Amino acid sequence: MRRFSFVAAGARTDVLVGKGAYAGLDRRLRHIAPGRWFLISSKKVFLLHGGSLLAGGGDRLDPKPLFVPDGEAAKTWDVLGRLLEELVRRGLRRDGGVVALGGGTVGDVAGLAAALALRGVAVVQAPTTLLAASDSALGGKTAVDLPSGKNLAGAFHPARLVVVDTSALVTLPLRAYRSGLAEVVKTSMLDAGFHRAMARLEAPLSAREPAAVSEAVRRSLGVKARAVTLDPFERTGERAALNLGHTVGHALETASGHRLEHGEAVAWGLLAALHLSVKRAGLPRGTAEALAGRVVRLVKAPRPSAAAVFRVAALLRADKKADRVGLRAVLLARPGRAVLVRAEAAELLEAFEGVLARYNTVGWVLPGFRA
Ligand SMILES: NC(=O)c1ccc[n+]([C@@H]2O[C@H](COP(=O)([O-])OP(=O)(O)OC[C@H]3O[C@@H](n4cnc5c(N)ncnc54)[C@H](O)[C@@H]3O)[C@@H](O)[C@H]2O)c1
Ligand SMILES: [Zn+2]
Repeated sequence: MRRFSFVAAGARTDVLVGKGAYAGLDRRLRHIAPGRWFLISSKKVFLLHGGSLLAGGGDRLDPKPLFVPDGEAAKTWDVLGRLLEELVRRGLRRDGGVVALGGGTVGDVAGLAAALALRGVAVVQAPTTLLAASDSALGGKTAVDLPSGKNLAGAFHPARLVVVDTSALVTLPLRAYRSGLAEVVKTSMLDAGFHRAMARLEAPLSAREPAAVSEAVRRSLGVKARAVTLDPFERTGERAALNLGHTVGHALETASGHRLEHGEAVAWGLLAALHLSVKRAGLPRGTAEALAGRVVRLVKAPRPSAAAVFRVAALLRADKKADRVGLRAVLLARPGRAVLVRAEAAELLEAFEGVLARYNTVGWVLPGFRA
């Protein structure tokens, strides 16, 4: 079992990663808040892992979970409202809290419910997808979606405890696992030590070896915790580095009508960012190619349709975050050193189209191109 703690914006978060990490949860919950705790999950996740979480949570945790719909459908105003009403009806008090068991969707809506209920109660994040375990459960961002777009209503409400039982990740479908690896690889590029460790971790991660998955989760959370400590509200840039690959990635995710998983879209975004980094940030070409190869081998993202690629262009040009000088993009100067630049939509598109021309489907390099 590995543990560490960090303090960001005056709030302390404990992080616990390992097999069987839910054991002793009752003691930890009592230490955080002595009152009654409520579990929020989706039926699908609860059937798989609710038993072990409830066993760890003991009497402190209400045995009857509050269910949210599976996937992105959980992140609506309506679901949030029903959660708040139900928490209060069941007797949540200021000295109680909420445990979120599930992927990033459950974590986001449950975290926001905890931020709002009674003006804020403690939340514990128990992530069960690789994406949530290595990234979204830590850092305090919570949100629901609005008709105008994803994550447009939310709050910063950091978890008091992020508890990752790595045995819960074993039931994750392969595609979701690989999609989560996109965030892991992304984070590894932002830290020199993690980058070096990836040379050793890549093969066992590909084979889903539990010890490697555990180490990758722990290292990812460590790198994110450092960024969040320096820049809790994403104002000074340290935290923005975690958006590497996400400008093109988000546009592609939307453009594919969510047929590509988040991590798959981010994988394409990472390839584009690496490509542009050679030109704009001085990343040595050999390093860019080695990193791109790792993204390709670990994520195995499907190739987007021509229609989706066409829509990416429109979305990047219309990006609301763009200003006169262009879009904000994260590039890599070298492993462990990200830089924020302004890039024209056209530049990003050229980079994206460049990697599309080069990688037939991720996993296959077109003939005539060096691997
Ligand atoms: N708050 C943040 O900082 C942050 C960061 C990145 C992403 N996000 C959000 O995270 C969400 C995506 O999260 P996600 O990728 O975890 O998706 P998700 O929560 O929809 O989970 C994906 C699917 O996996 C299933 N699942 C979860 N755990 C499982 C397990 N152990 N075994 C088998 N199946 C399991 C779920 O039931 C679901 O069907 C998005 O809404 C995104 O906006 C938030
Ligand atoms: Zn992401």
